[in-house]
Amino acid sequence: MNTAFRFSLQTFKGNALKGFIKHASTSTENPKTAIVMMNMGGPQKTDQVHDYLHRIMTDRDMIQLPVQGTLGPWIAKRRTPEVQKKYNEIGGGSPILKWTEKQGELLCKQLDKTSPSTAPHKAYVAFRYVDPLTEDTIKQVEKDGASRVVFFSQYPQYSCATSGSSFNEIYRVYTTRPVPSRITFSVIDRWPTHPLLAKTVAERIRAELKEIPEEKRKETVILFSAHSLPLKAVVRGDAYPYEVGSTVQLVMEELGFSNPYCLVWQSKVGPLPWLGPFTDDAIKDYVKQGRKNFILVPIAFVNEHIETLHEMDIEYCHDLGKELGVENIRRAAAPNDHPIFIDALTDIVTQHLNGATAINPKFLTRCPHCTNDNCKKTKSWFGKLCKPLAI
Ligand code: FES
Repeated sequence: MNTAFRFSLQTFKGNALKGFIKHASTSTENPKTAIVMMNMGGPQKTDQVHDYLHRIMTDRDMIQLPVQGTLGPWIAKRRTPEVQKKYNEIGGGSPILKWTEKQGELLCKQLDKTSPSTAPHKAYVAFRYVDPLTEDTIKQVEKDGASRVVFFSQYPQYSCATSGSSFNEIYRVYTTRPVPSRITFSVIDRWPTHPLLAKTVAERIRAELKEIPEEKRKETVILFSAHSLPLKAVVRGDAYPYEVGSTVQLVMEELGFSNPYCLVWQSKVGPLPWLGPFTDDAIKDYVKQGRKNFILVPIAFVNEHIETLHEMDIEYCHDLGKELGVENIRRAAAPNDHPIFIDALTDIVTQHLNGATAINPKFLTRCPHCTNDNCKKTKSWFGKLCKPLAI
């Protein structure tokens, strides 16, 4: 069996130790334009795991539990040791911060050239569940004096549970402090069909296909794997499933539909029904159908994290692959700092900075069956905050 997980762990360790910057700043400490890179984040050290899980389990935008104020903290406490063990198995912490900082640094370097009228640019990281938390980042952005702030979601596809929760948090922060009138705010909420995103993922797949013996290459099944979602969120109208599907379609177009492929879903938790087919079940049943060669592709996350480094590499590629006796099972790297991906980020932000649309009308529209008051307040607030831009 040929697995890619060793490669990714070594690559991460090597890169992580080499040249990552300490802070997500670019050329200046006093930027004209702040690019706030929003994501859920991940614990960098195992002693952050409990607080991280506690914030997730008590976030009603992310997860709805009965008696959440009691049950959420209880689940967080109970799950802490097993999650800490997983982080220990991938080197002791999540690389999300390091990758996001690097992406921000490279992005802003390019933005200073592609959009000189809004330079200098500086990237900030705003995480939802771990440092640097959104509230602290917003304070820092204000302190540094930027006159233009772009809230840039690092989830290419929009889900109310992830991107939506981050935007709701920004609104919550500004219920406790005045909105600075000197700042022009705007939002990039999703970018599932950016051609350079598709090109990046296609390049990552091509690199893994090359490692499959030539006679097996054409029959290798490409499994695009994304974090699943409770079915009740899908029925409510969450855009995530079809936006993930739109990315998959573009990637396969880029590859000329060279291989069989399927979109599958991972990381289900709890007993309620979630969107499937699940990644591990799909591998098992494809093996029953006689398929023996696979490439797993993270399609909804732009950097390595616990679901790629542990779930995909260790649990699926190594453990499950061994159990099922597959011939080849490899995992495509996340976009990370691939130069085409940095070009994608640059193009998205450059177009946004030089366009007239401060906010996507889709973002201002709630899911048809949304009953979450946070969404209502947030979208109404952002609608007033982000005025059409003068170009
Ligand atoms: Fe989608 Fe509220 S749950 S907008």
